[in-house]
Amino acid sequence: MMTDGFHSDPLYQELERLLEPFGQTHLLRTWPQLTEEQRKKLAEQIRELDLPLLQRLYEKRHQVLDVSGLLERASPPRAVRLGSDYRGIPPAEARAKGEQLLREGRVAALLVAGGQGTRLGFPHPKGMFPIGPVSGHSLFQIHIEKILARSRKAGRPIPLALMTSPATHQETVTYLENHRRFGLSADDLYIFCQGTMPSLDADTGKILLAAPDSLALSPDGHGGMLAAVIRSGTLQKLRDRGIEYIFYFQVDNPLVDILAPEVIGYHVLSGSEMSTEVVAKQSPFDKVGNLVQVDDRLCIIEYSDLPPELAEKRAPDGSLLLWAGSIGVHVINVDFLFRVADLADALPYHIAQKKVDYYDPDQGYVKPTAPNAIKFEKFIFDLIPHAKNAIAIEVDAARHFAPLKNAPGAEKDAPEHVRAQMIALHRSWLQAAGAVVEDGVPVEISPLVALDAEDLRDRIPKNWRITEPIFLSPEFISAWSSSPQTTPKTE
Ligand code: UTP
Repeated sequence: MMTDGFHSDPLYQELERLLEPFGQTHLLRTWPQLTEEQRKKLAEQIRELDLPLLQRLYEKRHQVLDVSGLLERASPPRAVRLGSDYRGIPPAEARAKGEQLLREGRVAALLVAGGQGTRLGFPHPKGMFPIGPVSGHSLFQIHIEKILARSRKAGRPIPLALMTSPATHQETVTYLENHRRFGLSADDLYIFCQGTMPSLDADTGKILLAAPDSLALSPDGHGGMLAAVIRSGTLQKLRDRGIEYIFYFQVDNPLVDILAPEVIGYHVLSGSEMSTEVVAKQSPFDKVGNLVQVDDRLCIIEYSDLPPELAEKRAPDGSLLLWAGSIGVHVINVDFLFRVADLADALPYHIAQKKVDYYDPDQGYVKPTAPNAIKFEKFIFDLIPHAKNAIAIEVDAARHFAPLKNAPGAEKDAPEHVRAQMIALHRSWLQAAGAVVEDGVPVEISPLVALDAEDLRDRIPKNWRITEPIFLSPEFISAWSSSPQTTPKTE
């Protein structure tokens, strides 16, 4: 501990000069009790701050985004429904195009996994959550195996760019290395870390401390991907290996059909710079971003910004006029990302009031019971209005969207709901392939065995009756195909 003479410490003076004009010198209150090492750490975090930006954002915190002009002109988005023709392009042609691009090595997957997963309350990065209903496999394993399965079909490796944040980075890297990246070659995995933003006290605008020697920093939103993928050199590396299209997805949805050829095909054949998967909203007030058309552009209007009368407006056939809810899956052109990276403020910060634990030099560690802080996040979907010819691609929610957001026991989006949806989907594939699955029996299919119902056809025993929980792994399939007369044991 150093207590003497800290006011004359040049480092202290430098920081005081930085913080003073912005009323943030309280961050130095713990200085006398810090070791040399701790002081350096705190100084580094303070130097990284964009204090003028934080001040501007705090001053604007009550400004409501005025979307009324936009809303007057909002109409349903240009959308293709998977499995149907779009502007004369049949699904088979789109699929063939997507497959061709994958074979030519022009598409990469990009997974954003930097979120803190506060609602789930799992004490590790969300990607490590054991979601497999029978296998217990993690979200990371399931995602990576889907990419490997697509690589096999394409006959060449497909790279994965994986975004972490300081909150998830080290544990994610160690976990993936301990599991040998679940079979993905080190040459095909590009891990990059997103930036952070400090949390501010909601009443005073003062930056919060997380501990005596560190600021309360949190990842800057999935929109932080844009700056991070460029700053880290990842996008350039992908471009250097011939990648032109990015298939972007989020870590929390185990049903996402990663690198779906038909989706990629429609994106490219329609000349879109950024395409977005949507599902038909179940009710006008579903808590999803609403993808709408405004003039020649698509954009997302947050559910909280959509007035009830517009949310409830019906088309002549009785369906919701603004029906398209975004599920956070996008196909994005690499050139487009490079182009918008230069646009000042391409992505605005969104402001949210949240509960944030903090350290107070007088009270020690504080765990607030009500929202006490302001957090700033960028959202990747704010890029959509900048994209030419953006399209929505409608997918079926039951088959494509099971987000893991909440802790067990929650009303929706909890592990039990996600697992039930995985089981229902895989059961339907098994039934389509001719099996009978007894009611209530959990089934799960490894992505290395099948990515869809079609993949499973002719690969399981005829008239197979499944009476016990089963995980259909490649080992299981090869054991059965080496002696097809015996129905496989299900343990
Ligand atoms: P959410 O917005 O649902 O946040 O992220 P979250 O961190 O998973 O959960 P809560 O809100 O704290 O409970 C959607 C996707 O965006 C990623 C997440 O990892 C998830 O894949 N994300 C979110 C980031 O990569 N970085 C961020 O800063 C925020």
